[in-house]
Amino acid sequence: MPPEPQSLVVIVLAAGQGTRMRSGTPKVLHEVGGLAMVRHVLRLATGLSPARLGLVLAPGMEAVAAAARAEAPATEVFIQERAQGTADAVRAAQALFAGHTGTVLVLYGDTPLLTRETVLKLTKAVGEGAGIAVLGFEARPGAEYGHLVQSPSGDLEAIVEHAEADATERAARLSNSGVMAFTAALATSELPRIARSARKGEFYLTDLVALARAAGHRAAVAEADEAEVLGINSRADLAEAEAAFQARARAAAMAGGATLLDPDTVYFAHDTVLGRDVTVGQNVVFGPGVVVADEVSIRPFCHLEGARVARGAVVGPFARLRPGADLGESVHVGNFCEIKKARLGPGAKVNHLTYIGDAEIGARTNIGAGTITCNYDGFDKSLTRIGADVFIGSDTLLIAPVSVGDGAYTGSGTVVTKDVAPNTLAVTRPELKTVEGWPAKFRARKTRGKAERAQSGGE
Ligand code: UD1
Ligand code: MG
Repeated sequence: MPPEPQSLVVIVLAAGQGTRMRSGTPKVLHEVGGLAMVRHVLRLATGLSPARLGLVLAPGMEAVAAAARAEAPATEVFIQERAQGTADAVRAAQALFAGHTGTVLVLYGDTPLLTRETVLKLTKAVGEGAGIAVLGFEARPGAEYGHLVQSPSGDLEAIVEHAEADATERAARLSNSGVMAFTAALATSELPRIARSARKGEFYLTDLVALARAAGHRAAVAEADEAEVLGINSRADLAEAEAAFQARARAAAMAGGATLLDPDTVYFAHDTVLGRDVTVGQNVVFGPGVVVADEVSIRPFCHLEGARVARGAVVGPFARLRPGADLGESVHVGNFCEIKKARLGPGAKVNHLTYIGDAEIGARTNIGAGTITCNYDGFDKSLTRIGADVFIGSDTLLIAPVSVGDGAYTGSGTVVTKDVAPNTLAVTRPELKTVEGWPAKFRARKTRGKAERAQSGGE
């Protein structure tokens, strides 16, 4: 029987300094798929409906605590005064499981790609009678993780840190991911017995395995792919995690019924939603907060963020949808158009070289090439309202706040400074002057001047 959900306590360790990132930002706030690593881990934890959720931080990590609460408001933060090892970190959070009867799950804040299925294997093993269960993986040669020492029957006997392992132990098939689950009872009785390691002087959580065995508990192993348990220590690791995240997101998008014309060039965020029969062209980037409905076509070289795109819309090539862009059904947004905080009614078209920001545009309205909503005066943002079935002529400037009524027209080059009534033409246009014969005179004058300069050696 898997444990009752309310009997699970999750502890996320994130007190390490992450010096190898060489960053002013705490390591676990670096993002994968547009979401801080620690938020990935807390999202996974929250999905397990734990009775309590703890996060272990070092002093001064307020920014991490804030990010954690943004993701999971119920997170309880524990401060580990000095980084004295993973067992010491779990002890810092012992108030979470003292007197508890269920399972304790330990996750690392810098291991963002772990999946629910994998974690459930561990909690299941503990639910089925193991005192402790550890997630192992086959590490690439040369990696220096803790080694899982297994009995011939596959039970776990001990974990030996690489630096302290002998040749036989180093030859173990599986390495320690660090993710483990154990009973709260085991933690309460055996955690205090973990002593400082001789070599590093730290308290190793991994020592819990041998102590559990000595106390008569069974220790189990579950396996994960290396990509899933990748721990991020450096920028290179971060890039690797991002690549793994993207590979997973691309596969999921295609499995969900989207066509990616060149999957390796499409970049997703942690929360991108694509409907069925969506086609995404080459070199498209989804920032956070994008929801795309069925039968949408995103053509090559688009950048979308915080945008909603309704059924049947066509976006791009070379379009930018910024936060608050809300495209109705069958809307077309074409090349070199930027849409920000603007709602476009069904069937509206914004096809060429246009900026639409802080605006509402009605159904079937056509926005001509080069149109700009002048929404910002250096101090305030103002709204442009354009009704349904409007025709905005090319190169119209709309000086917000301003509105254009249903069925109106603006002439090309118009600067709209006043509200335009429905079914009215608005046009600001200096009269065109024509001067017959002027080009010939102009060319003659220029040609003469050039010849004179050449003669005097000027060119
Ligand atoms: C640990 C494991 C090792 C495993 C590896 C997997 C131990 C002793 N070793 O080693 O077997 O192969 O992870 O990546 O557990 N942390 C604290 N406080 C501390 C120390 C660490 O909160 O005092 C946190 C870190 O922020 C990090 C996690 O615990 O999230 C792991 O710490 P780290 O120092 O990276 O452990 P490793 O030496 O990599
Ligand atoms: Mg590590």
